[in-house]
Amino acid sequence: MLEVAIGTGLNLAHYPDEVQLTGVEWSPAMLDIARDRARQLGRAVDLRQGDAQALDFPDACFDTVVCTFSLCAIPDDRQAVAEMARVLRPGGLLLLADHVEASPWYARVALALIEVVSIRVGGEHFRRRPIRHVRALGFTVEDHDRFKLGIVERLAARKTPRSAAGR
Ligand SMILES: C[S@@+](CC[C@H](N)C(=O)[O-])C[C@H]1O[C@@H](n2cnc3c(N)ncnc32)[C@H](O)[C@@H]1O
Repeated sequence: MLEVAIGTGLNLAHYPDEVQLTGVEWSPAMLDIARDRARQLGRAVDLRQGDAQALDFPDACFDTVVCTFSLCAIPDDRQAVAEMARVLRPGGLLLLADHVEASPWYARVALALIEVVSIRVGGEHFRRRPIRHVRALGFTVEDHDRFKLGIVERLAARKTPRSAAGR
């Protein structure tokens, strides 16, 4: 399993012991914290510095790819999702959670105003919809919900199995 933009490793405690986990993260400082956390949890993880937009892995080498609250911060979210799709095996599972464009118009306006500053200051986007990229890549969205005015979105999507892709 691969976690993209793993940050400080906040999700580490939630993976079952049997999962063989690889984590990629752009920031060496965040990676150091993730390494400490993994040590404290007694969890073996292959943690690597790298760019979500150009993952240094061969095609179709992971069963599952996870990315939480990071597509809002990665400069090209479409390219990052395409890279997740590339390294995922056919039939593999993509799990995403992020803050996205709100449902009500007034919240969309507020987030647009926040973005004027947040993108410039911290590269943080508040009006993205990664699910559109996932669907455009032909994934089947198996589970999906939105809450907190639609701002938080979670999804589980399946990459087309090889047999179906060849039809
Ligand atoms: C808000 S944090 C979320 C961290 C973690 N996924 C979590 O849920 O706690 C966003 C992370 O994305 C990382 N990031 C931003 N751009 C990246 C890129 N191009 N490649 C890899 N990681 C990136 C940041 O360094 C940061 O650690």
